[in-house]
Formats: sequence, structure tokens, C-alpha cells
Amino acid sequence: MPRRITSHPVLGELPQAELVTIYLDGEPLAAREGEPIAAALLAAGRRVLRRSDKLNEPCGVFCAIGRCTDCAMTVDGRPNVRTCVTPVRDGMRIETQRGLGRFAGAEFGDTIPIRDGADWVMSPNSGEAARATQRAEVAVVGAGPAGLCAAIEAAKAGAQVMLLDENDRPGGQLVKQIHRFFGTSDHHAGVRGYEIGQRLLDEVRVLGVDVRLPTVVWGAFPGPVLGCATAEGESHALTAERLILATGASELAVAFPGWTLPGVMGAGAAQTLMNLHRVLPGERVLMVGSGNVGLIVAFQLLQAGARIAAVVEVAPQVGGWEVHADRVRRAGVPILTQHTVIEALGKDHVTGAVIGQLDEGGELRPGSERRLRADLICLAVGLRPQTQLAGMLDLEMTHDPRRGGRVPARDERMRSSDERVYVAGDLGAISEASIAMEEGRIAGRAAAAALGYGEDGETERVIEEAGRRIEVLQGDVRGGEGRPRRIMFTGGAARATPVVECYQRIPCDPCEAACPTGAIRVGPDPTALPTVEPARCTGCLRCVWACPGMAIFVVRPGPEPGEATIAIPWEWLPLPKAGTMGRGCDRAGRSVCKARVVRVLPPREAGQTAVVELAVNARHANRVRGFMM
Ligand SMILES: Cc1cc2nc3c(=O)[nH]c(=O)nc-3n(C[C@H](O)[C@H](O)[C@H](O)COP(=O)(O)OP(=O)(O)OC[C@H]3O[C@@H](n4cnc5c(N)ncnc54)[C@H](O)[C@@H]3O)c2cc1C
Ligand code: SF4
Ligand code: SF4
Ligand code: FES
Repeated sequence: MPRRITSHPVLGELPQAELVTIYLDGEPLAAREGEPIAAALLAAGRRVLRRSDKLNEPCGVFCAIGRCTDCAMTVDGRPNVRTCVTPVRDGMRIETQRGLGRFAGAEFGDTIPIRDGADWVMSPNSGEAARATQRAEVAVVGAGPAGLCAAIEAAKAGAQVMLLDENDRPGGQLVKQIHRFFGTSDHHAGVRGYEIGQRLLDEVRVLGVDVRLPTVVWGAFPGPVLGCATAEGESHALTAERLILATGASELAVAFPGWTLPGVMGAGAAQTLMNLHRVLPGERVLMVGSGNVGLIVAFQLLQAGARIAAVVEVAPQVGGWEVHADRVRRAGVPILTQHTVIEALGKDHVTGAVIGQLDEGGELRPGSERRLRADLICLAVGLRPQTQLAGMLDLEMTHDPRRGGRVPARDERMRSSDERVYVAGDLGAISEASIAMEEGRIAGRAAAAALGYGEDGETERVIEEAGRRIEVLQGDVRGGEGRPRRIMFTGGAARATPVVECYQRIPCDPCEAACPTGAIRVGPDPTALPTVEPARCTGCLRCVWACPGMAIFVVRPGPEPGEATIAIPWEWLPLPKAGTMGRGCDRAGRSVCKARVVRVLPPREAGQTAVVELAVNARHANRVRGFMM
């Protein structure tokens, strides 16, 4: 059953909020002021938001970011309101909608841009505000990592920049990413996604960028001219000399019997609900897909208090990084490769799932089907670029499976087939936030330079450096096979042994930056595997809390003869106290031996990782990697 998340190991206690009363089909419900309607309804245990027209089938939240319309309801008499992105208001009347609902007439039909000589203006039927066409030298659509960085660089070069996003919070997908980022200091390594979003926004504001939130860009026309609508429902045209599209991506779905039931949703939707709106969308979860998004969201569901029945993956191997898979496994979650979801069970919402094993040819092995209890099935099966505005501008498209399918063609300066339009971030190639930021930097500088802003040398330096960082980030993480799988603790005279369980060429180096003695080194190439010199280690534990992959453990002899202590990173609730007795668990979350907590280093500040030091029998020191109270 969905519920509120009142305390969280990273986000802390649920902040106080004013309560308002909303009415669902006439029944009063309490909601937190400002939260989206769908989040309030889920927190109150209401999962059915709409019913399909022909079959009267129930629908619930699928994307939670305003992309799929599954959550459309009738609000204060207005049909088809996307309740996942519409905030509650006191006294709001919400009705479960059947099909398309009843239209009261088109609302924006007479506020479209029309040609006026060489210019585009709003139609004469529009209100006065709409007819006054606005102008920007550089307009950026999308305030995710790509759009924010594009706005920063264009403004730094000296251009007048307007940044538009349909959300009232900037940051795009960053605002729900509570994990710490990999990379180097150039990529905000070790910083949590939502903090990076805030830093970028602060920079945007200092630079005087005109930030328009929430503003939906509902159309793009040659010029380029944008059709924009504000939260108050006012529409206006915006003419831009250069346009940067950074509209991101939406989640893909896979079809199987029951996949439209409330309780089947995108993994990113679950992430939005729990990390942004503090609503846990389900207690017992099946995660479909083991790419980085699936693994990260599975871990975050555990942090928020859910149980994960399994992660299923059709491929013969895990898709995401090993460090993400390892920390999910350490929590006892089975990752079942060559498995898939066959059916979602339930009448009005998910109550279970059937999974099955696949053979080498991808066919279901007869008799391998089994039922799992679950009230949430999360789909982490890929992302699709949001190309609607690019399509309206008739930009040349190209098909590239490595970039996410059909994406706008662009050159190395992120310029599309229309020289006035640039494309950055997930819209141009599905990747991840650090790459989106670099692409945004290139697009911002290039767009400003095309208008004559910025010194040539500086423009080329920014573009080249960002390009080089992209190459590093795009490197293949495989290739760490040459390294010994485990640096073992051997006891003896060693004061402390840092055990680094990171075996892929992840572009990342916070472990080196954190180590004051040089016991861990990555070197100038951030994709190199960390090397360890145990003799230099003083046991300060800084590397344990600094590693975003939670992949470093420090083992040392003592405190009693025959014992060893293991320092493990801890991002769970509750934080144990020194003296707590429990079980030491292995890398698959299985109980190994008795363990007692000898020391706890709580987070130094909000959002930091804690470190818990366990004492176990020394012969288990190379097996124990977790603790069960
Ligand atoms: C659902 C989802 C979950 C993800 N989870 C993770 C994760 O856990 N870990 C990880 O490392 N990476 C994750 N990623 C990938 C990573 O977040 C993205 O690669 C990165 O955010 C891309 O940045 P961007 O700026 O291109 O797009 P986004 O961050 O998606 O930003 C695009 C912005 O454009 C706005 N926008 C779109 N269309 C319009 C319009 N017409 N009018 C106005 N505004 C508009 C959107 O509201 C959004 O704010 C996720 C991506 C998605 C889509
Ligand atoms: S415990 Fe301290 S000294 Fe040892 S490797 Fe980690 S950071 Fe370096
Ligand atoms: S061990 Fe180092 S390189 Fe590997 S994930 Fe941790 S901080 Fe990054
Ligand atoms: S539009 Fe609201 S769930 Fe997709």
C-alpha cells in the first residue's frame, strides 16, 4: 500500500507543510500544500485515477512527470488535467475520469502563433498579454542539467538568456536523484543530484538568466518562435535568435498482461514520488530491468522503506555498473538475469507478479513461471528522447540505437539541421546527467558565439574541454578484468586494510581525493582502476564515506584477540548504536556470523553517508559486508 515517507536516511524528516482539503469524487482527503494531486491521492491509498473508455479498466500513475497522461482526471470541472504535475489547492474537486472526460471547449485554440509578415505573433483572438510577443537572444527549453549548463555558458559569454521549464522546480531529473554522483571534481563527484541541481540554479540566477517557471512550451514554429503557456493558463509567443532544446527523455514501457494496472509504473516515476514528493508508491516491489536506473531506484526504494522481491533482467548479465548491483545484492535482493515479468496480477491494482526464466534464445522456459507477492512493478527498460518540439521545427532526424533511437541530427557544437537551433542532453542522446551538463555547456557557448558573444579563444577552450570530458565519461566501464578481484585482509601487522570492491573502469576518483596518505590512487586517468597500498593506510575511514559506489570497506585487527573490525558505509534507517548486537551479512545479504557494532560515525552533515564499524570473528572478515540488526 502506498504511504508517506516520514523519515529518510538521506532526506531526513518529512518537512512540516500546511494541510489542505481536497475532494475526490466528493470525499474529503487531507493533502500537503503544493504537492501534486496524484501524490496526495497515492499517499491516501487511492491508486485508481482514471478508467479507460471502452473497457472501463483502471489507470494510475505511470510516469509522474507529466508525459504519459495516465493520471488525467477532471479537476474543478476541467477534464484531462495531468494530476502528477498539478499542485493541490484547498477545496479542489477531483473526479475519477472515464476515457477522455467531457470537454468544455478548447482552451488554447485561439491563442496560437500566426504569421504577421516576417514575424510570428499570437492570433488576434488572444488576450493582450498573449499578443505581445516576447523576445530572447538565446532561449533554452528545459531546465534539467543540460538546459541549466547551456544557460550558464551562454550567459557567461554575454548573451541575454531566457530559460523555460514546465516544472515549478528546476533541475529536470536531477531533483529526484539522491545518490551521490560519480566522476571527478569537474563533474560534482560525490555530490547528490538534487544538490547539483541547486548549485546550477544558483549560478544561473547570479548570471542574470531570465528563468520562467513553470512555463510549458507547447509549440515550436519556424523562426524559431515558441508557444508558451504559464501556470495561470496565459499563452504567449517567444521569438528567439538562437534556441537550445534540452527537453530530456521519458520512460519506455513494455507490454504484458496487466501492464496498465495502477501499480505498474516507470522506475523514474517511483523515484519522483518517493524522493521528491515523499510518497512510497508500494511496499513490495518487482523491479524490471537492471540498468543503472533500475539498480539505483531499487536501492532508493530500499532506503525509503520498501522491500524488493527481485530485480529481473532479460539479458544474461546485469546491465548497470557492478557497484550499483553489489549494494542492492548486499541488501539481500536477488538479481535474476535471463528472467522477465510475464504478468501483473490484480483487479484494480497490482497485488502480485508472475516472472519466468528465459532460455538462450530468449524464449520462456516452460515450467519456470513463479508468482511473487508485490504491490508495485517498476519498469526500468529504457528512455526515449522527448522529440516533439524538434519534430515541430522539422529538424532533420537520425536513427541511432546508441543515442536512444530517433534523435535530432547535430554536429559537434550541438547545432541541429537548422543553424538557429541547438540540441543538448537526453534529447540528443540518452546518457546521464554529467554528459548532459557537458553537452549543455557546448550548446550554450556555441549558440552565444553564433550571435557574436564571447572571445573566440575562450569559446573554443570551453567547447574543447567539455568535449574531452564527454569522451572520458563515455568510456567503456569494462576492462577491469586484469585486476585481482579482491584485496584481502590478511590480519598480521597491518593497521588497516582498505578493501576496494570496484572493478570496472568507472570514470570516478573521489576515493583518491579523500585519502590523505595516498593509500588509494586513481591517477590522471579517472577511468583507471583504483590501486591500493595498504601499508600507507592509517584507517581514517574517509574513503568509506567518500565513495559514491559504497564500494570501500576498511578492515583491521581487533578490538579483541581473534576479532577483526569492518567499516561499512551506511545509508539506512535506523543508524545502529555502538554495542548493538546483530548478524554480519555477506555480499548477497546472507547471514554469516555474529557481529557487534563497535563504532558509529554519523553523517557529518545532512545527506552524508554514515560509517558503521562491526567486530566479527577475524576468519569472517573477508566475507562480512553488511549488518542485520
Ligand atoms: C525518469 C528518469 C529517471 C532517471 N533516473 C536517473 C538516475 O536515477 N540516475 C542517473 O544517473 N540518471 C538518471 N536519469 C538520467 C539523467 O537524469 C538524464 O540523463 C539527465 O537528467 C538528462 O538531462 P537533460 O537536461 O537532458 O533532461 P532532463 O533532466 O530530463 O530535463 C529536461 C527538462 O525539460 C523540461 N521540459 C521538457 N519538455 C518541455 C516543454 N515542452 N516545455 C517546458 N519544459 C519542458 C522537463 O520538465 C525537464 O525539467 C533519469 C532520466 C529519466 C528521464
Ligand atoms: S582509511 Fe584513510 S588512509 Fe586508509 S585508504 Fe581510506 S582514506 Fe586512505
Ligand atoms: S572506489 Fe573510487 S573509483 Fe570506485 S566507485 Fe568508489 S570512489 Fe569511484
Ligand atoms: S502524465 Fe501523470 S503519470 Fe504520466
